[in-house]
Amino acid sequence: MTLWGGRFSGKLDETAWALNTSLPVDQRMAIQDVDGSLAWAGALHTAGILSDDEHVRISSGLSAIKQEFLKGEFTFAPADEDIHTAVERRLTELIGAPAQKLHTGRSRNDQVATDFRLWMLATLPAIQDVIASLQSVLVAQAEKSDDALMPGYTHLQRAQPVLLAHWWLSHFWPLQRDRERLEDLIKRVSSLPLGSGALAGTPVPVDREALAEALGFLQAAPNSLDAVSDRDFAAEFLFCTTLCAVHLSKLSEQIVLYTSAEFGFFELSDAYSTGSSLMPQKKNPDVFELTRAKAGTLLGLLTGLMATLKGLPSTYDKDLQEDKAPVFNAADTLLLMLPVLSGALQTITPRIKRMRAAIDSFMMATDLADYLVGKGIPFRETHALAGKAVRLALEKEMGLDGLSLEDYKSLHPAFEADVYQALDPLESVKRRAALGGTAPAAVQIQIQQAKNTLKGE
Ligand code: ARG
Repeated sequence: MTLWGGRFSGKLDETAWALNTSLPVDQRMAIQDVDGSLAWAGALHTAGILSDDEHVRISSGLSAIKQEFLKGEFTFAPADEDIHTAVERRLTELIGAPAQKLHTGRSRNDQVATDFRLWMLATLPAIQDVIASLQSVLVAQAEKSDDALMPGYTHLQRAQPVLLAHWWLSHFWPLQRDRERLEDLIKRVSSLPLGSGALAGTPVPVDREALAEALGFLQAAPNSLDAVSDRDFAAEFLFCTTLCAVHLSKLSEQIVLYTSAEFGFFELSDAYSTGSSLMPQKKNPDVFELTRAKAGTLLGLLTGLMATLKGLPSTYDKDLQEDKAPVFNAADTLLLMLPVLSGALQTITPRIKRMRAAIDSFMMATDLADYLVGKGIPFRETHALAGKAVRLALEKEMGLDGLSLEDYKSLHPAFEADVYQALDPLESVKRRAALGGTAPAAVQIQIQQAKNTLKGE
């Protein structure tokens, strides 16, 4: 039985039914559908549409249905077009006639939008939690790294030395922004469509503000036409999750690169790496490769929904039924991926010596220029002089630390014996002590900031 048979004498074609039905996707909102109906029944009762007895019977019927869902005992019927139909059909089976009054003044248009928002409000904290867990792993790794050094890159070319801890934390802050974006989204999800009817509003004199409060929303949506078609929250959710996946992809790409023999900066634990069916020696970073790939998949989901929304006029159109699958998919992907990444990064072993060995003296060329600045020479000039030192060292097939003091003096008389201190990577790092820099003291402050942020301070 569908909820709309009255004006039809013929039956929907079977193939059209298969296209039209949304139950396979929207049954995931079963609990939310029941909760929305419980609240709506309460509003109908307050408005005098349901008698005390009808209200009690509908409420207890709905509560029983909720239990069936929670226990996995609910049975769908072949004719259930969507989750709303299934719940109403079951309610009729359980309590008979009063069930027929539940849909008074309500449409599946305001109902589905309400269910979807309720689902998102329930899911956002779970996603925020798995992000926060990964952030904790990054902080713990940063703390464990002490003063270990690694090469920092720009253009993927060796640039300047940095603390390994600083690198770990560079992946903490993007995730913090992701979590904050999801938090900010909550207030826009919390606008209640219920009570908007199909498009024009409901004739039932319901107190929509009270209804909003009962369902945990911040406000009742102010315009019924907008309320039934507003899917900004779904698009925003897909953007937030996609951006988070892009951040995870960036981190993963670095791990893939750094676990290669050429870099050898990290060793994956066996629990989070896989072998080859053909090459016995292989240890592959599949977890990180898949994370990298999923970012592309999520981007496709975001683009798909935006394209759907772009073609629509205002109010409800059936196209909007396509909004849920991408959102569920994106949520599932993050909920699956983030805990795996946490485990993989918690158990990864940094190879400190390899990292240190990859820092060559040319990475301190800037420090050489800064050294001369310390002797009162303008930076533009010192930059050129340090460049000449690099060229001389390359000609002599040695590092900057291989040049003699005479070599340096031949470039400029201001060079003295203390020039070699300027070429020490740890000294280089220590000099970058302004807030947000890679100096150990600045990184300690950053670790504290990260911890406070995680505690919500
Ligand atoms: N399954 C529909 C959806 O997800 C529910 C709303 C149906 N409304 C309608 N007018 N046919 O959008």
